[in-house]
Amino acid sequence: MIYLNNKLVPRDRARISVFDHGFLYGDGIYETLRAYNGVVFMFDKHIERLYRSASLIDLNIPMSPDAVKRAVYKTIKANRLKEAVIRITVSRGAGPVGLDPALCPEPTFVIFATQFRKYPEQFYLKGVKITIADTRRNYSGALDPRIKSLNFLNNILAKIEAKKKDAYEAIMLNYRGYLAEGTISNIFFIKDNVLHTPSLKVGLLDGITRRIILDAAKALHIATREGSFKPRDIQGAEEAFISNTTMEVMPVAEISSMKKFNGPGRITRLLHKAYKQKVADDTRRRGE
Ligand code: PDD
Repeated sequence: MIYLNNKLVPRDRARISVFDHGFLYGDGIYETLRAYNGVVFMFDKHIERLYRSASLIDLNIPMSPDAVKRAVYKTIKANRLKEAVIRITVSRGAGPVGLDPALCPEPTFVIFATQFRKYPEQFYLKGVKITIADTRRNYSGALDPRIKSLNFLNNILAKIEAKKKDAYEAIMLNYRGYLAEGTISNIFFIKDNVLHTPSLKVGLLDGITRRIILDAAKALHIATREGSFKPRDIQGAEEAFISNTTMEVMPVAEISSMKKFNGPGRITRLLHKAYKQKVADDTRRRGE
């Protein structure tokens, strides 16, 4: 079952217009969330970011945050899911051809929830291969990476590069050549026992997983540094990993034609353990 506009409909009846500006122009926003044991993790943070993305593109979500949360749980339950990946998508809606948002009176609002499929265990035991893409991350002054928009061509071009190099993820640099983020993940590396990650000022999405990891590091008395780093900085690192809502903490085994790591490092493993502990603490059934 899919939640479409204001109700659940069977998957084969969940249809939207070919004139939807989400389809015509990538005009819209989204969030990906994860439910553990039927409880959505970091729900408020995702809802906050959804509304922030909407506000940054002048899009009015036609529901209150609480109503969106209720709709998400309805969708999870209608599909009888416990371990789920949920996507909330809001597009500008259908309207005549033309860029003016005022052409679309009603946004299109969609929630779907699917069974979470575990990543291959080897990804965590050995790590994944990443590459540094030639495609640069969108310049913040042109399209702010803080907007989690449907306009993903920037990331898709980098993903195509990754696939050509047989890499799982591509890290994009910003227009000045500083490490920014992956196509769907944030990047971290450990050097001299300090956890490094690009600062939001470089121009990247403020990943919710990224923030949890930084907080966990502080609680574990691991020094952290958010800053502007070049590819050579990660080349000299002892450990590296990528993060997002579904990957959690995924170790990097290799940076294509640049560096090989010695399996998942000690700090990477500590941080993943702390992350899992937070998930366990926060998703104990709360009677939802
Ligand atoms: N992507 N950077 C980009 C460009 C992303 O698309 C994502 C998330 C992240 C990590 O954010 P978070 O920790 O809040 O998931 C960073 C989701 C998973 C997606 O595109 O479906």
